Amino acid sequence: MKILRSMLFVPADSEKKMGKAASVGADALILDLEDSVAAVRRPVARQMALEYLRSADRTKGELWVRMNPLDSADALADLAAVVAGRPDGIALPKCDGPHHVHQLDHYLQALETQAGIPVGSIGITAIATETAAAPFTLGQYKGAPRLRILTWGAEDLGAALGASSNKDEHGAYTAPYVLARSLCLFGAHAAGVQGLDTVQPDFRAPDKLLRECNEARRDGFLGKIAIHPDQVAVINEAFTPSAAEIAHAQAVIAAFAANPEAGTLSLDGKMIDMPHLKQAERVMSIARQAGAL
Ligand code: COA
Ligand code: MG
Repeated sequence: MKILRSMLFVPADSEKKMGKAASVGADALILDLEDSVAAVRRPVARQMALEYLRSADRTKGELWVRMNPLDSADALADLAAVVAGRPDGIALPKCDGPHHVHQLDHYLQALETQAGIPVGSIGITAIATETAAAPFTLGQYKGAPRLRILTWGAEDLGAALGASSNKDEHGAYTAPYVLARSLCLFGAHAAGVQGLDTVQPDFRAPDKLLRECNEARRDGFLGKIAIHPDQVAVINEAFTPSAAEIAHAQAVIAAFAANPEAGTLSLDGKMIDMPHLKQAERVMSIARQAGAL
């Protein structure tokens, strides 16, 4: 499945932002019907999202839609409006666990059938740390239908907990959000889906964004959410293996290929063994997908 380095949120009721979004270079857009759209604007946003899905150049990047939470009155209206536009996927907010993914899968099966599109073609991104219950289920997503991406959020989780802030006096996430981030990362890898890092809301601080990208990539996330066009290039570059990383990965693979019976070798004065080979192969696969080879 294609890796999405950057997913840019676009409020679906904003003609201006929707107009700009296609030229920004994000691997995917998420047309938002939830938190960035006022309740009274939702009917308009649904129609605009559908129009956008129908008229956009679909070779430029994937198009996703963020629906409203499953327990809201908006959820079915959102899906009923946009499925006919054949989005690449639905982002599910306030996801409590895999049972919510199953529930969404059932709705999508019905609506895909009605729209005459292949059943199962629409994927799911679970925003999987936005409720107090959610962190307890992050290890249970393996086999969840349609699931391509697990991501986490610190803003809604803070609101769910009644936290006065999710950051400490140095600007670092406090313990509950560090835990949610780590569990999301473990959960994504345990489920065999992509882990996507959360937003950096301070969109005029490219240094902070780059630091978060590098930390996320170091830890095993494969991409990050963007909320502003200026964030997309930084994210895409940070999640694309550099020439030096590619050269190192190729050297590791070549060393094992030249010594097919070796379980461990030395390269540049350092021990390498199977985890290094596995990581090198992963880097090459990401680089290939990102067109960096
Ligand atoms: N997608 C597409 N275009 C966007 C955009 C987005 N997410 N955010 C801003 N733009 C456009 C603006 O319309 C503006 O276009 P212009 O050059 O034609 O005038 C340009 O990019 C520069 O925008 P800027 O003035 O710097 O930002 P802003 O003050 O207009 O908007 C936000 C700031 C945060 C309100 C806006 O970026 C936004 O709506 N982000 C998405 C929020 C969201 O979806 N949140 C939910 C997920 S957490
Ligand atoms: Mg939210």
